[in-house]
Amino acid sequence: MAARATFIFYALFLTSIQLLLTYHVSSAARGLWKYIAPNVGISAMHMQLLHNDRVVMYDRTNFGPSNISLPNGNCRDNPNDIVSKRDCTAHSIEYDVAMNTVRPLTVQSNTWCSSGSVRPDGVLVQTGGDRDGELKARTFSPCDNNQCDWVEINNGLTKRRWYASNHILPDGKQIVIGGQAQFNYEFFPKTTNPNVVALPFLAETHDQGQENNLYPFVFMNTDGNLFIFANNKAILLDYVKNTVVKTFPAIPGGDPRNYPSTGSAVLLPLKNLEADQIETEVLVCGGAPKGSYNLAFRKKTFVEALDTCARIKINDANPQWTVENMPHARVMGDMILLPNGDVLIINGGSFGTAAWELGREPVLAPDLYHPENPVNSRFESLRPTTIPRMYHSAAILLRDGRVLVGGSNPHAFYNFTGVLFPTELSLEAFSPVYLQREFSDLRPKIISPKPQSTIKYGMNLKLKFTVTGEVTTPVKVTLVFPTFTTHSFAMNQRVLVLDNVKLTRKGKSPTYEVQVRTPKSANIAWPGYYMIFVVNQNIPSEGVWVRLQ
Ligand SMILES: *[C@@H]1O[C@H](CO)[C@@H](O)[C@H](O)[C@H]1NC(C)=O
Ligand SMILES: *[C@@H]1O[C@H](CO)[C@@H](O)[C@H](O)[C@H]1NC(C)=O
Repeated sequence: MAARATFIFYALFLTSIQLLLTYHVSSAARGLWKYIAPNVGISAMHMQLLHNDRVVMYDRTNFGPSNISLPNGNCRDNPNDIVSKRDCTAHSIEYDVAMNTVRPLTVQSNTWCSSGSVRPDGVLVQTGGDRDGELKARTFSPCDNNQCDWVEINNGLTKRRWYASNHILPDGKQIVIGGQAQFNYEFFPKTTNPNVVALPFLAETHDQGQENNLYPFVFMNTDGNLFIFANNKAILLDYVKNTVVKTFPAIPGGDPRNYPSTGSAVLLPLKNLEADQIETEVLVCGGAPKGSYNLAFRKKTFVEALDTCARIKINDANPQWTVENMPHARVMGDMILLPNGDVLIINGGSFGTAAWELGREPVLAPDLYHPENPVNSRFESLRPTTIPRMYHSAAILLRDGRVLVGGSNPHAFYNFTGVLFPTELSLEAFSPVYLQREFSDLRPKIISPKPQSTIKYGMNLKLKFTVTGEVTTPVKVTLVFPTFTTHSFAMNQRVLVLDNVKLTRKGKSPTYEVQVRTPKSANIAWPGYYMIFVVNQNIPSEGVWVRLQ
């Protein structure tokens, strides 16, 4: 299968090159789409990039055979499967970015609508799922010899975690928050009793019959508390003491932003990290007006999605939302922080809601948000794709600066024909404008640190890089944590703009050295593998994996 997949990808790669040449790159071009794999065997509903540049993806295990066989001719008896009781196909894969190949992985229980994080040692920890998978945790240790696979942990969780959000904590544990009918949170690995802590906020934000608070948006504030947004409002939670330390006003208009009224959210890039009080801003975009789910589900009436974003400084004494309009109304959009600090809003539709068969009118054009620009000059709309990416699609940032896009399956099965949005097994990559050839002169190339180097907290870090064209100060150095993305939310998304940039030119060659300060605490940046980038005039280098510890 691997050989066949390689061949197919190779053939397609040639087609894409031809396609690429037909585009004339000009300043009017707003990014570039490349169809990189027509068929990875599964629908990329959940995606996580690991520090060996491989992406783990999975869908679910009880909805019939996928298009990629399990390794070693294995099969799985699956009495819960709705289509076939014996399944010889894989529902998880590893995608090798550099080789553009896939390898099937083995999950034994249902991973559908689950969550995950990467531990400080680089191991992916996945939590929950459905039915026989709802209490499981699973680990995947990255390897370069194609031998690693999932390890499943029975009763890793105390409560069923379906549509829950996961966040890595500074001590390397994870917190798993909410999920269907769960108004509580727990830790993995389990802590001492009680491992489950009630969170009344999730009951308060639960719209009867619609929910609208699933896959809550969770971010770690720089004081170590968790910002949790569900439905249309947010709290700051001290998860150690289980106290709500702050309550934020409801988002203006009051419309819901979480599943199934799926919008998305990011913590904007954190900067001035040496300050006593770091300004922490959250941006929530899109979603569906109140009542949209019931109208779509019961009456087949598809309401136009929200075209607003709301932004809030969470550490202000009296935090208030500022509302802005997006170029497109969008539900089920993914929000991805780029290495230069801009926000890409990609995928989704402009009518209806998330859930099976309830989205309409795909939004094919991504929108870019420049957080540093003044209000009303922050958005630009980019080149559209041709492939709708509706419910169960995903997007993640790659180390080379592209955004990998996959999945889309609004059906209860793999349905390739006779449906509005056929199940997508393909992958595309979107190259933001900064990757266009006209900027190659400005693009830094990092010489050191070397890949997989360890960096420590609160140290002066020197990076060496080359640029053939002009370097304009200040250059920016950013640390980017790889996200676990599913259901339009990128868990653990964090971009840190490092302080104290001192730039030196080294001799006559186009070599430069930049000195920065690494984050001073694990609350600002938890330990683990980050991609480090040098950004010159808004054009980022390729990233280099470094381990912060
Ligand atoms: C995947 O799809 C192709 C094309 O339809 C088919 O030839 C192949 O047998 C399928 N593979 C599996 C494992 O289902
Ligand atoms: C979707 O796939 C399932 C399982 O293969 C099949 O039973 C069903 O008829 C398909 N639906 C459509 C609309 O083709």
